[in-house]
Amino acid sequence: MTSGTANANGECLGWAARDPSGILSPYKFSRRAVGSDDVSLDIAYCGVCYADVAWTRNKMGHSKYPLVPGHEIVGIVKQVASGYPKVTPELAAPLLCAGITVYTPMIRHNMNQPGKSFGVIGLGGLGHLAVKFGKAFRLKVTVFSTSVSKREEALTLLGADNFVVSTDEHQMKALCNSFDFILDTASGDISFDLYLSLLKTAGVLVLVGFPSEVKFSPGSLNLGAKSISRSVTGGTKQTQEMLDFCASNKIYPNIEVIPIQYANDALERMIKKDVKYRFVIDIANSLE
Ligand SMILES: NC(=O)c1ccc[n+]([C@@H]2O[C@H](COP(=O)([O-])OP(=O)(O)OC[C@H]3O[C@@H](n4cnc5c(N)ncnc54)[C@H](OP(=O)(O)O)[C@@H]3O)[C@@H](O)[C@H]2O)c1
Ligand SMILES: [Zn+2]
Repeated sequence: MTSGTANANGECLGWAARDPSGILSPYKFSRRAVGSDDVSLDIAYCGVCYADVAWTRNKMGHSKYPLVPGHEIVGIVKQVASGYPKVTPELAAPLLCAGITVYTPMIRHNMNQPGKSFGVIGLGGLGHLAVKFGKAFRLKVTVFSTSVSKREEALTLLGADNFVVSTDEHQMKALCNSFDFILDTASGDISFDLYLSLLKTAGVLVLVGFPSEVKFSPGSLNLGAKSISRSVTGGTKQTQEMLDFCASNKIYPNIEVIPIQYANDALERMIKKDVKYRFVIDIANSLE
């Protein structure tokens, strides 16, 4: 997973999947010379995103092998093409995909109004950061999870106001028409009609997870003038704004630092929803 240091000849070492089994193993490759739009860096840390599960296992049908996954990267800039802004490397890897992916739609849909009710579906890498942003925006935050084992930490460690097991029909029905906003960060399929029914009039359901299909009854939107929207990651300017917001509000991801040799186990654990709440690979100290 993720290329480490390139030597003087531009040769890199990474961990690649060779086929849709998604199993990673060491892989040597070379890079082009640093061009006018390029930045060359020594990668120090790399967060593990569910998208890495999807790409290594060809879930979208366009993966090309060998495939070196990993995009939540932080490192030391070695070479910058002239005119390119310098990036300050920090131990902020999970903010650079998980963080910005949830922050962008939260700002776009004005989910930063204190006192509003906010539901987060799925407590993984994206979800746990959405809970933290929600609390920083002083929202009333409810976690919808399929894992009852995550209840205690959601309420204490992450500071959610409410935790609901989403398979519990009784609990779900009781929350009908009570949310201003719901953010779907689940890596699996959810019932859109059910979650739309939990929104108040003019409520918004935003999807950042990648369900296998988006299907709901038109009436679920009409009754109550509700909206459903999607969002993909975010831009450079908003990423800086998000990093500044995290620094001033002390929002940091809860991470489990692992060596590259644990990457295959980490991907398997993500498939089993066994993540608290982001794996970050210590590339600098384990890739050799
Ligand atoms: N839009 C974007 O730009 C963008 C960027 C990054 C990632 N993503 C996508 O966002 C999703 C989440 O990524 P992540 O890295 O946060 O994943 P993650 O850390 O693996 O967490 C995903 C969580 O979703 C829940 N979940 C898993 N399977 C489910 C199912 N069948 N039904 C309902 N809930 C389920 C689990 O939480 P509970 O145990 O609490 O149920 C799981 O821990 C993925 O689909 C990923 O591809 C999108
Ligand atoms: Zn990602």
